[in-house]
Amino acid sequence: MLPQKLQAKLDKRTESNSLRALTHQSKLIDFSSNDYLGFAKSESIFREASAILESSGLKTNGATGSRLLSGNHKLYDEAENLLCGFHKTEAALIFNSGYDANVGFFGSVPQRGDVILYDEFIHASIRDGMRQSLAKSYKCKHNDLADFERLCQVERSRNQLNTEMYIVTESVFSMDGDSPDLEQLVFLCEKYKAPLIVDEAHAVGVFGKNGEGLIQQLGLENKVFARLVTFGKALGCHGAAILGSEQLKKYLVNFARSLIYTTALAPHAVATIISSYNQLYRPDNEIIALKKLPENIQFFIKKTDFLGLKSRFIAGKSAIQSAVIPGNSNVKMLSRKLNEAGFDVKPILSPTVPAGQERLRFCLHSYNTEQEISTVLKLLAELVNNFPA
Ligand SMILES: Cc1ncc(COP(=O)(O)O)c(C=O)c1O
Repeated sequence: MLPQKLQAKLDKRTESNSLRALTHQSKLIDFSSNDYLGFAKSESIFREASAILESSGLKTNGATGSRLLSGNHKLYDEAENLLCGFHKTEAALIFNSGYDANVGFFGSVPQRGDVILYDEFIHASIRDGMRQSLAKSYKCKHNDLADFERLCQVERSRNQLNTEMYIVTESVFSMDGDSPDLEQLVFLCEKYKAPLIVDEAHAVGVFGKNGEGLIQQLGLENKVFARLVTFGKALGCHGAAILGSEQLKKYLVNFARSLIYTTALAPHAVATIISSYNQLYRPDNEIIALKKLPENIQFFIKKTDFLGLKSRFIAGKSAIQSAVIPGNSNVKMLSRKLNEAGFDVKPILSPTVPAGQERLRFCLHSYNTEQEISTVLKLLAELVNNFPA
């Protein structure tokens, strides 16, 4: 039997129609995975990763220990060097996941007496990291530069010596698919001498000539204190890295608990990171994916306009396009109808998003066809007429 308090929490979830459950990957048309470029299914990436393992003599099943003990095999150096070149950064430090990287970074970098200003829609992993930190954290309105500036002024007017004021945002928000004005945010950070951290989880592989991310597309790589890139989304594999200076890397190796107290990634996971990044450079099928994805995003946005759906969708140019349909039961019902018609479109429920902001989240891919996009949006347009905006 579950303790009563826990049972009560589960019951509450059931009552509010927001109980979560594990399901298996569906065979439906994919408008839900983060495999934006189809790399997770790429045979050439799989084969190259195997070849890397062969040639490096690292055909082992596991890493055998933390990166600080026995787990730091040589493929880590190769992968981190590759990341430095690709992402134009002095240093890169690979963590087991984006979750671990954010928790490790925010749990160790901001110190007691420091301040973190964060966007209200920031990812749960950053929130969890901030909870481990002794720094104070303050929420700013979503993508609202004026609100960030207001809080910067409040903090700076306290005039405390040695207070570091960190600002954190995402270049593509995971539930909304929109982006902040990064150029203006950089300007604000310079004005208030605030180190900027940008989570690029959903921007890598989507923005930039070869999928370098939005920060590099805008030429801002030297203006940020740290970036997070993850490999479980467009790169189709697993893991993440913090990009920043050598000194920051050295600090994280010494103090980021989620790096220190966990078994490192197995060699095959790191080999796959290397081969996925190699694929971004390569003039074959997968590089076509890099061109096809933005075309599909453009096509999707045009179609929403044509079908009178534009006002339902949160404006953004990324591979995440969300249509707000208030109410857990409404959004669940619409998702089910789309599923029945063959499309895997996930409902995003409250409390994952604020109540009233429930939504259908369409994740777009290089391998979605225009026919699929047209059909699913036409169906949505028919269904959605019955729901309040
Ligand atoms: C914005 C953002 N940051 C970090 C993460 C965590 O990345 P990972 O899935 O590699 O743990 C996610 C994944 O959902 C995300 O959306």
